[in-house]
Amino acid sequence: MKTLIENIAQLVAVPAGPLAGDVFRRPPVVENAALLIEGERIAWFGVRKDTPPHGDADVIDARGGTVVPGLIDCHTHVVYAGSRENEFEQRIGGASYIEILEAGGGIKSSVRMLRAASEDELVAQSLPRVRRMLECGVTTIEAKSGYGLSPEHEFKTLRAIRRIADETPVEMIGTYLAAHTIPPEFEGRADAYLDQMLDKALLRRLVKEGLAEFADVFCERGAFNLEQSRRFLAACKEAALRPKIHSEQITRTGATAMACELGAVSADHLECINDADIEALKRSGTIPVVLPGCSFFLGSPVAPARKLIDADLPVALATDVNPGSCTIESLPLIMSMAATMLKMTPMESLVACTANAAAALNRADSLGAIAVGHQADLLILDVPNVNRWAYNVGVNPVAKVLKAGRVVVDRS
Ligand code: NIG
Ligand code: FE
Repeated sequence: MKTLIENIAQLVAVPAGPLAGDVFRRPPVVENAALLIEGERIAWFGVRKDTPPHGDADVIDARGGTVVPGLIDCHTHVVYAGSRENEFEQRIGGASYIEILEAGGGIKSSVRMLRAASEDELVAQSLPRVRRMLECGVTTIEAKSGYGLSPEHEFKTLRAIRRIADETPVEMIGTYLAAHTIPPEFEGRADAYLDQMLDKALLRRLVKEGLAEFADVFCERGAFNLEQSRRFLAACKEAALRPKIHSEQITRTGATAMACELGAVSADHLECINDADIEALKRSGTIPVVLPGCSFFLGSPVAPARKLIDADLPVALATDVNPGSCTIESLPLIMSMAATMLKMTPMESLVACTANAAAALNRADSLGAIAVGHQADLLILDVPNVNRWAYNVGVNPVAKVLKAGRVVVDRS
């Protein structure tokens, strides 16, 4: 099956990631473009007048809009139960995120709610969020466990993630975040808790059933220290779960440099990094992921994204959607925040949410780019250029979403 998208005012031909330097800042743009899809893949793109013969291809009229790769949200906790607006109010009153966590709320409160929910309830609560994300142009989502904190409830979460993938066109990638915090039954015994969650048979089952590809740890006060974080990720890596990390979000722990040393695929948050951490990232293949939605939602400092980009690092951008530190589901809204809060241009944000996000998920060779042979995950936007998208904060210009060559959202 062939599909031709024509009448494209601006085609942002983001090359395969990871992208740094000039091509990150200014990816190639084709004006008056067309794009040909064969089956699930991109077969050709270029100036419209050079369109190759395409026989009986279906034709989609982009109506003078913009075409970009489907967005990839490479850091989310979108599968959760219940809600924590009570904490939102506490924080407005002056309580800090960590104080709430250390008092048994925060993540621990979400753990109680997730444990009380059945797998069906968890799917029912999370599916509408994923559908809304798709409507905003997200075609691939990384989703972490981490509110179960026992073998039973971590598996339940990861199975719910897979069921959501089966019920939507969105590609869902599971991450085992068993080291999110210490559950109440292991209070004061973090190492014993990690022993349980690092059981070799358990990790083998996770990988064999295809429930998780990555492992993640929250290295922070109120969660795991540097040594515990290293141990968790190293054991997961040995079981073929590739390391990711929540590092330097609220305090500087040295987690970023440790993760780089361990060969982590990404180091996420980075609000409190220093110049040595930037050097460590430069020496590694670890993708720095920034999450300005958290800074907005918590009213806390931002990651030095500009410094990372100007150090020629392939920065990625994600929502971190979760019930405690950022409930924002819209990755385009995060792109607008990246503009005002991180001084990233909309083009840089687009690259950060596509090619570089794909790299943060070890999928740069198939996702996140407009390149021949890449999966045809594409957005047709009812705006003449990418700047207009980020500039019209909170307005959704998505006309069509294509996933693997098929139209899965049509709002035109
Ligand atoms: O990325 N910081 C740790 N984890 C999440 C928040 C989880 C929560 O508060 O429920 C984050 O910010
Ligand atoms: Fe997170």
